Amino acid sequence: MPGKFSRRRFAKLAGLSAVAMSATPAKSQKRGAKPKSAPRAAARFPNGFVWGTATSAYQIEGAVLEDGRGSSIWDTFAHQPGKIEDGSNADQANDHFHRYKEDVGLLRELGVKAYRFSVAWPRVFPDGDGAPNPKGLDFYDRLLDELLANGISPYATLYHWDLPQSLQDRFGGWQSGETSRAFANYAGYVAGRLGDRVKTIFTLNECARFVDFGYGAGIDAPGLKLPQAVVNQVRHNAALGHGLAVQAIRAKGRADIKLGPAENIAACVPAIDTPENVRAAEIATREMNAGFLNVILEGKYTDAFLAYAGKDAPKHTADELRIISSPIDFVGLNIYAPQFYVVAAEHAPGFDVLPFPASFPHMNSEWLRIGPETAYWVPRLAAKVWNLDTIYISENGTSAVDQLAPDGKIYDLDRIMYLRNYLAQLQRATAEGVPVRGYFLWSLMDNFEWIYGLEKRFGLYHVDFKTQRRTPKLSASFYRNVVARNGAGA
Ligand code: NOJ
Repeated sequence: MPGKFSRRRFAKLAGLSAVAMSATPAKSQKRGAKPKSAPRAAARFPNGFVWGTATSAYQIEGAVLEDGRGSSIWDTFAHQPGKIEDGSNADQANDHFHRYKEDVGLLRELGVKAYRFSVAWPRVFPDGDGAPNPKGLDFYDRLLDELLANGISPYATLYHWDLPQSLQDRFGGWQSGETSRAFANYAGYVAGRLGDRVKTIFTLNECARFVDFGYGAGIDAPGLKLPQAVVNQVRHNAALGHGLAVQAIRAKGRADIKLGPAENIAACVPAIDTPENVRAAEIATREMNAGFLNVILEGKYTDAFLAYAGKDAPKHTADELRIISSPIDFVGLNIYAPQFYVVAAEHAPGFDVLPFPASFPHMNSEWLRIGPETAYWVPRLAAKVWNLDTIYISENGTSAVDQLAPDGKIYDLDRIMYLRNYLAQLQRATAEGVPVRGYFLWSLMDNFEWIYGLEKRFGLYHVDFKTQRRTPKLSASFYRNVVARNGAGA
């Protein structure tokens, strides 16, 4: 090697090729002449596409003891030693309860026209049911007014995991239909009070996660490891809570409120794009989501789900299935990572799931495998399987290390890489007519990332949790540019 490519020789070669490159256009093209092929038209999202960001109450609000808020299962859980990786809790979190005006300012800087936040059930009904707290909605009144004054439409989530502790203590939380009914009562109350300003409501956030991780694996609050039959019943009760809430909001709220869940759909992707595999991925989408999305959209548990659950299948009545499948206006999909790469199979129900190789790449969170095509296939398959006409990507984003550079800035190029690629695939879906109407980036700012605490950062704005200082990362500029031009670039 030495001598073959000395530095000098390399510099010479590089210099020569630079000359050659710059000479090429002059030779083949007259000055001022138009290039032969026009540059590719920049890929845009449909007109009126809704760009937003998302957060949730417990992850950002803090002020857990203010204005009569009751405690939630996450307050209890986060205070138990060893449950949160970095030993933190969300007693203060982003102190958004007091800093919401500054935070609405961050939204304005991004140019987004929509903001998805959640209402804390224990602020509104400190015990989950019974008498509402007279001050319970005051904070949200202030937040809504501030959003609307800044031209930002509020998209509210009713349940982002902060179940009132009292419901857990008295009824075992979602183990009981009492909680489903209390949720509906709370939902109707909120819609009645805020429905003059909130026109889009997400009922439950990520049912699949809070049921399986909270009641099955003991990873999330309330930290229970219950038998599968009980877990299936918990999921059924959550679906029932969703359906009862839809009915209560329609009854008490205004007619123009649009409703749907925000679900971490089991994301199925054809491993290789062939007609057989695509069909298999459709079947997988229906079956792998049989316990929640499919039952609320189809009004029945699939045969395969019931056969697989056997004696552990949830007990249910025909009337409950009717309530669960009350008509909704949209489906919100939280899309982060491919979950199942699928191929066609001869045997019932018609698909096989491939194992992930150990070398499959992931982002800073280990579960966050990188599969940009998920943002294309998942909405496409969901729209096909359930004949949907309105889908929101209710969450998408990534954590990153987000180190401060010597100049004090945060060059989160990995987050930009992730977002650019997912958004390009989402644009591919909308260009083909998949009815995705909006996108909510998780998250506006770093916040309390549940069991991972404060050090898994998902924000476009960095938050110093000691000083509460918010600093835009490079990805905030990236997203501002996406919003401004209604496209992600290639
Ligand atoms: C989904 C959850 O809804 C949200 O609360 C969480 O922070 C993000 N995923 C990132 O894990």
